[in-house]
Amino acid sequence: MRPKIYITRKIPDAALQKLQESCDVEMWPEEAVPVPREVLEDKIKDADGLFCLLTESVDSTLLSAAPRLKIVSNMAVGYNNIDIAEASRRRIMVTNTPGVLTETTADLTFALLMAASRRIVEASEYLRSGQWTTWSPMQLTGQDIYGATLGIIGMGRIGEALARRALGFNMRVLYYNRSRKQELEASMGLAYAELDSLLGLADFVCLMTPLTPETRHLIGKRELKLMKPTAVLINTARGGIVDEQALYEALREGTIWGAGLDVFEEEPVRLDHPLLTLPNVVTLPHIGSASIRTRTLMAELAARNLLQGLSGQPPEHLVNKDAFAAEENG
Ligand code: NAP
Ligand code: GLV
Repeated sequence: MRPKIYITRKIPDAALQKLQESCDVEMWPEEAVPVPREVLEDKIKDADGLFCLLTESVDSTLLSAAPRLKIVSNMAVGYNNIDIAEASRRRIMVTNTPGVLTETTADLTFALLMAASRRIVEASEYLRSGQWTTWSPMQLTGQDIYGATLGIIGMGRIGEALARRALGFNMRVLYYNRSRKQELEASMGLAYAELDSLLGLADFVCLMTPLTPETRHLIGKRELKLMKPTAVLINTARGGIVDEQALYEALREGTIWGAGLDVFEEEPVRLDHPLLTLPNVVTLPHIGSASIRTRTLMAELAARNLLQGLSGQPPEHLVNKDAFAAEENG
């Protein structure tokens, strides 16, 4: 019998066709509207595989309604939307899409850093709203990037790709990470710093960790106070890593100079969110990996992971491999 797959959003044709070759596939057909929770709860009842996005909360309630489910394939590298412990307990594989989005996300992170520090969005609005009546010495002046110090929190795949870009701008790169990366220190000239020390030294702080219980609100009032008043915070990782109320107050009061945010604690962010009222914040709708090529590759990789898991092969990117290794070892 062909396995049954449920896909929670319209995905690119190539990935869909690959899945249809060997599985019975049902897909939520909308692009701009997420699958309603009640539909997902119904469809999961007889699914062997779930292809989902970071917009779906794959929690214990959903997993407990899925007696046949063998694999959840997330079309994202981050998987904080999935209850991994519960999936492991139920012997359900969870996969993600690392690597294929690294460079694209690093590009966007650097673009956001440049936009926030050089006030690109604000300047464009200034022109279009008819405020540009003359050139003047200190008009729309921002912070220099070239030669500045970048502090990267989370020196993983994207952190490293970001560091490479920064070196091209002659930046000094500091990093803080759960584990030291001594090879990168030697090969790229990166310097390790403890979190508090990095916050005090960096002109730009970029967050590049996953969202976990340890990183939730890693940046709060105390940490923002350690930063320079000229510093810019960039978050393209996950909104929950920052205490948004504390960030709002720090930006309003001039504790730090600016911010660039691609991610929010609650997405889509409410239009009345206080952070959206500040001129010194550049805000984006979670587009870190959004290039045509990369999103296509992510969909294809998520499809491949799913098919591998359903056919009994170890998927290329199994998140909860410990749970399955434990099973293999008896
Ligand atoms: P990765 O290679 O796993 O890198 C994550 C890094 O964070 C690792 O080096 C890890 O340390 C470090 N880390 C984890 N917990 C930590 C902690 N408590 N304190 C300090 N460092 C910690 O992941 P990636 O591919 O670079 O992606 C990073 C994150 O970016 C994803 O999880 C996702 O949330 C986000 N992302 C966002 C977008 C977007 O569209 N905005 C796109 C892609 C990814 P170790 O080296 O010790 O493991
Ligand atoms: C996007 O945010 C991802 O985690 O891939």
